[in-house]
Amino acid sequence: MAKGKLLVGLDIGSSSVKLCHLKEAKRGYQLKTFDMVQLSQEAIVDGVIMNQGTVSDAIRNLVSRNRVRQKECAISISGYSVIVKRITLPLMTDQELENNLQWEVEQHIPFDINDVFIDKEILTRSPQMGTMDVLLVASKRDMVNEYVSAARDAGLTPKVVDVDCFSLQNMYEMAYGGGNDGETIAILDLGASITSLIIVSNGVTAFTRDISMGGQQITEEIQKQLSITYEEAEAYKVGGRDGDLDAVVPHEVEEVVHQVSETIAQEIQRSLNFFLETSSVGLINRILLTGGTAKSAALASVIGQQSGVVVEVASPFAALQYDPKTYNPDYLNDVAPLAGVSVGLALRRTGER
Ligand SMILES: Nc1ncnc2c1ncn2[C@@H]1O[C@H](COP(=O)(O)OP(=O)(O)OP(=O)(O)O)[C@@H](O)[C@H]1O
Ligand SMILES: [Mg+2]
Repeated sequence: MAKGKLLVGLDIGSSSVKLCHLKEAKRGYQLKTFDMVQLSQEAIVDGVIMNQGTVSDAIRNLVSRNRVRQKECAISISGYSVIVKRITLPLMTDQELENNLQWEVEQHIPFDINDVFIDKEILTRSPQMGTMDVLLVASKRDMVNEYVSAARDAGLTPKVVDVDCFSLQNMYEMAYGGGNDGETIAILDLGASITSLIIVSNGVTAFTRDISMGGQQITEEIQKQLSITYEEAEAYKVGGRDGDLDAVVPHEVEEVVHQVSETIAQEIQRSLNFFLETSSVGLINRILLTGGTAKSAALASVIGQQSGVVVEVASPFAALQYDPKTYNPDYLNDVAPLAGVSVGLALRRTGER
């Protein structure tokens, strides 16, 4: 079957919207566009779009200032309103699975079936055991519709609604070449309000979980403990990104960043332990970090200490070709952690589900 056209990847995050568009190259892909627009803190709260106008404006801005002509896009959701379950079923045909789907969902997904979109993917079939492993995905219709209409209002046509953690897996496969090498890797997207975890074992999805914690928690704690505004706390947290605040960042900031990082890392560790206790995979070989909060060296190092696993920041652009006249390598290095989800989405095509 002919391959569909590559979609525009649109990652609508709670702190910023990122747009990534790729182009087919001789070998692999070329980066055509990557850009992002910051959102105000109130635009998306806990994954819920509170102000659709702001979000649509950000998307429209990204499309127009980058002259993106392709309108068909892939978006994604994460957090409370999507549930992913890996289940083992007796071996059956695709049609039998289709017929049993509703029943399986009712057994495994704690949402009213009328409120959700259902998707499934067969991960492995094992005829010797007479079983198959299936991934069930249920996402709240309301939530999906909100994200779809934010993109539509900006003049785009969403063709695919993905889940953040699966787009990370796609990014990983492209950037790191397959992943079916016997390795088990955990990818952690450390965002502003949500931390998404996906564990890929020998190229197959083994576990996913979203944790409602992220960089925003760190900023809020700095704000509280130092009695300053959110914006000031944010500037201190990122080390005085705009202007040279380095010299004047109060020493308490480092302390607070460390405290909150410990808490976030403990929650992550709970999920990693749960995975290790409940799966036959005995070991995680590597942890890859994406998301803006992956730029926090403190959090990365606490995650490494608690897990005892090698931690590295992912490079979603590493395997992409790009025009050095358009994109400066320093800029790409700087934004790379933030691009994980959008690069994964930009690998999706028309004609896919
Ligand atoms: N240099 C830095 N050091 C520490 N944190 C940073 C740095 N740069 C950005 N961040 C944090 O990264 C977060 C934004 O990351 P990201 O863009 O991945 O989140 P998002 O996708 O908008 O949110 P979410 O996925 O949670 O909805 C913010 O909390 C921001 O403060
Ligand atoms: Mg995000």
